[in-house]
Amino acid sequence: MARKVSKRKRPSRDDFLLKERFKVESEVFDRSTLLALSKLLGKGILATVENPISTGKEANVFRATTPSGSYIVVKIYKMETTKFMRRKEYIEGDPRFKKFRRSEREFVYAFAQKELKNLEICAKAKVHAPKPLLQVKNIIIMEFLGEEGLPYTRLNVLGPESMSQLKSILLDMRRMYRAGLVHADLSEYNILVGPKPYLIDFGQGVILSHPNAEKYLERDVKNIVKYFSKHGFEMDWKEALEYVKS
Ligand SMILES: Nc1ncnc2c1ncn2[C@@H]1O[C@H](COP(=O)(O)OP(=O)(O)OP(=O)(O)O)[C@@H](O)[C@H]1O
Ligand SMILES: [Mg+2]
Repeated sequence: MARKVSKRKRPSRDDFLLKERFKVESEVFDRSTLLALSKLLGKGILATVENPISTGKEANVFRATTPSGSYIVVKIYKMETTKFMRRKEYIEGDPRFKKFRRSEREFVYAFAQKELKNLEICAKAKVHAPKPLLQVKNIIIMEFLGEEGLPYTRLNVLGPESMSQLKSILLDMRRMYRAGLVHADLSEYNILVGPKPYLIDFGQGVILSHPNAEKYLERDVKNIVKYFSKHGFEMDWKEALEYVKS
């Protein structure tokens, strides 16, 4: 008896490889993110998106290049909304997001939008933070903080080196406070060490009219002062807080 030949076409090797590639990418990019990214490439805002600098719980951060060949950072918030729902309080109390509609997708977009707006405030206030470029959906494009193509190392990895680093961070917090902004997620994990310490990761940042702004500020100050104190650069957190608010 003749064996039945399946009518189903076997996938070609190319199809197979594409699928494999998509499987990898689809963990990072959903369809709408892929579309948004290809638009940015098409418009000539980006020339390439390279390997990830960081794959985290909430976002993936990539080094990318512009058509003129300089490095730039693409941060893509993951569309896994449960993680963001836990951070609802940072959106809900912020008057800038009062009119915000609450589809889950838009909730993630709001964090990206918030981060960009906060970076704009920082740029104006001359805070050491990445210069913002643009935000589309869950994607933010900003200045690459690094040297010779390598991103600066995080403070938690390097450890604090001097009292002047602490003072620089407190001065930046003071500039932010004067500009009406609190970081609300500040710690040694969200500081990159270049010639000066740079503050990053502003998605949680709130403006001062948020009902918990003062509470978040106190937490930020305590985190930083405690970390430096543990490494021999001691300061009283209350004094530090007073300085930031003065
Ligand atoms: N502008 C930048 N230039 C260079 N490196 C950056 C920049 N922004 C972020 N990074 C790198 O990517 C990492 C993650 O960035 P960020 O803290 O903004 O994301 P995240 O939201 O904390 O992600 P997760 O907490 O899920 O890891 C940083 O620790 C840093 O190493
Ligand atoms: Mg972070």
